[in-house]
Amino acid sequence: MPKDKTKIKKCLFPAAGYGTRFLPATKAIPKEMLPVLTKPLLQYGVEEAISAGIETMAIVTGRGKRAIEDHFDVSYELEHQIKGTSKEHYLTEIRDVIEKCTFSYTRQIEMKGLGHAILCGETLIGNEPFAVILADDLCDNDGDSVLSQMVKLYDKYRCSIVAVEEIPLEDSNKYGIVTGKTEEDGAIRITDMVEKPDPKDAPSNLAIIGRYILTPDIFDILQETKPGKGGEIQITDALLVQAKKGGVIAYKFKGKRFDCGSIDGFVEATNYFYEKW
Ligand code: UTP
Repeated sequence: MPKDKTKIKKCLFPAAGYGTRFLPATKAIPKEMLPVLTKPLLQYGVEEAISAGIETMAIVTGRGKRAIEDHFDVSYELEHQIKGTSKEHYLTEIRDVIEKCTFSYTRQIEMKGLGHAILCGETLIGNEPFAVILADDLCDNDGDSVLSQMVKLYDKYRCSIVAVEEIPLEDSNKYGIVTGKTEEDGAIRITDMVEKPDPKDAPSNLAIIGRYILTPDIFDILQETKPGKGGEIQITDALLVQAKKGGVIAYKFKGKRFDCGSIDGFVEATNYFYEKW
């Protein structure tokens, strides 16, 4: 049977950032491995990808991130120690994840921004549409996960999709901000977007959060993208090239999202998941 080149089969996790806001915790532990309750942020992300029907996880790591590879691997010594004891169930969730998925890794040698990290993932993704999860944006929804909702929308529009959320305008300088024309309830075809604008220059209060579905032409665009805001290669600048051709939909997702890259968001997420525990 011919391979379906349009189905979303892979999810890319850029996880090479320094996580400076969480120093000293992130000196030797990757930010993506910080736990909300007992589970690392990255595992929440991987489980969300699985819920969207994805089984191939592609992770962009960097120096000092080896704990990520060890986490998604079997620890024979540990397994042996707790086998048949009352503690065995603690490993059930991560075992399920490891059994269901394959993991591949590449390293971003220089941290030149999110756009650059995504470009580093090209070797793992190839020429097909793919999902991107920033694990420090933790999402939760009682129905379909945020990424499953986006995969459904992708099946309809067949172009890049970015998840957006309404934010207080004074926070616009922390996000990529989009504007466009409404296609249907919750879906907007983007006509313009700006990375981290001052509130007075923001085209709207719709902010891109850490969930994307990208068509593979993004890689060629990223190759040509010059460093932008903060001297980093910005995914927003590359998406704008697609958007100018009508190729990006902003999706107002259903569910909650916590910015676990900030202390406030991390504490909020911890309290939220503890309430659900
Ligand atoms: P952030 O800017 O939130 O992460 O990037 P950071 O740089 O690690 O955090 P601070 O500001 O220093 O505290 C968003 C996501 O993009 C990844 C990060 O790992 C994070 O998941 N990223 C960012 C890369 O993989 N490479 C980069 O060069 C930049």
